Amino acid sequence: MTTRAADPHTAALESDLREGFFRDPPTVPPRWFYDEKGSLLFDRITRLAEYYPTRAEAEILRARAADIVGAAGTVVELGAGTCEKTRVLLDVLAARAGAPRFVPVDISTEMLLDTARALAAEYPGLRVEPVVGDLTALDGPLPGEPGGRLVLFLGGTVGNFDEAQRAGFLTMLRGVMDPGDRLALGFDLVKDPGRLVAAYDDAAGVTAEFNLNMLDVITRTVPSTGLDRRDFRHEAVWNAGESRIEMWLRAVRDVRIDFPTLGRGRTLAAGEGIRTEIARKFEPGALVDELAGHGFLGRAVWTDGAGDFGLALVVVD
Ligand code: AVI
Repeated sequence: MTTRAADPHTAALESDLREGFFRDPPTVPPRWFYDEKGSLLFDRITRLAEYYPTRAEAEILRARAADIVGAAGTVVELGAGTCEKTRVLLDVLAARAGAPRFVPVDISTEMLLDTARALAAEYPGLRVEPVVGDLTALDGPLPGEPGGRLVLFLGGTVGNFDEAQRAGFLTMLRGVMDPGDRLALGFDLVKDPGRLVAAYDDAAGVTAEFNLNMLDVITRTVPSTGLDRRDFRHEAVWNAGESRIEMWLRAVRDVRIDFPTLGRGRTLAAGEGIRTEIARKFEPGALVDELAGHGFLGRAVWTDGAGDFGLALVVVD
């Protein structure tokens, strides 16, 4: 018998498949959307007419930049990406005396280091200290003076966690922050289901391609038979009971999928789906209560002018 030592990336996907793919319904976590092509597609999504969250959040950040940055000496951004929308906050931070610090945290090394280099050139007065890592598994205290940190978690990514993941994330975050540190959390709001579905199923098919691309990531990363994007279609549905959009890859015919290295396979009948993402939509009051339950007390909740998207600013008790 021969064994194959999987590289960490392959091992991580194999572990996620073992965990979710053989359940009912099968699930694959959304982090597997974001290979290079997936990241570019996501970037296109943020500019789609139907996808309001990015524009709505940018409007709030522009209007409230000074309030959000407050007296922070260190800003830590979780899932920083290209920091496009963060610049309006960095303008405020960089104008401050006393060597302010910006710590972008992201799992994608290359993008993070490119961004950090660009920011260091753009903001000579700012110490830019990138950290490559999984934002759901931070350990040790965050950089910066206890009580003087501002943590940003923007874009509504908190909605991509289920209840248990969200609770785990907030517990973890509280553990690496100190009293007086603040958190700015972007979250999408419950609204007309037609608009929500359109935001995740745009007319140009960019989100469909983003979703289907996950199958290419899987077939490229883990040996498989029978997994073919032509056998699936993208679907975005509003689950009112759970207050969330769900993205599915729905089988258009019966398919048999095997993963030889996992020693497992399953059949999906036509019409059965793989759930690839949840995007929870919140009522502001409920989220603020949840934050308080984790030791983050409310300072403010702002929305954009149309009331589509929210930003909560909370402080560690
Ligand atoms: C990253 N996240 C906040 C996006 C969202 O809206 O849930 C991901 C996304 N999925 C499809 N479109 C955008």
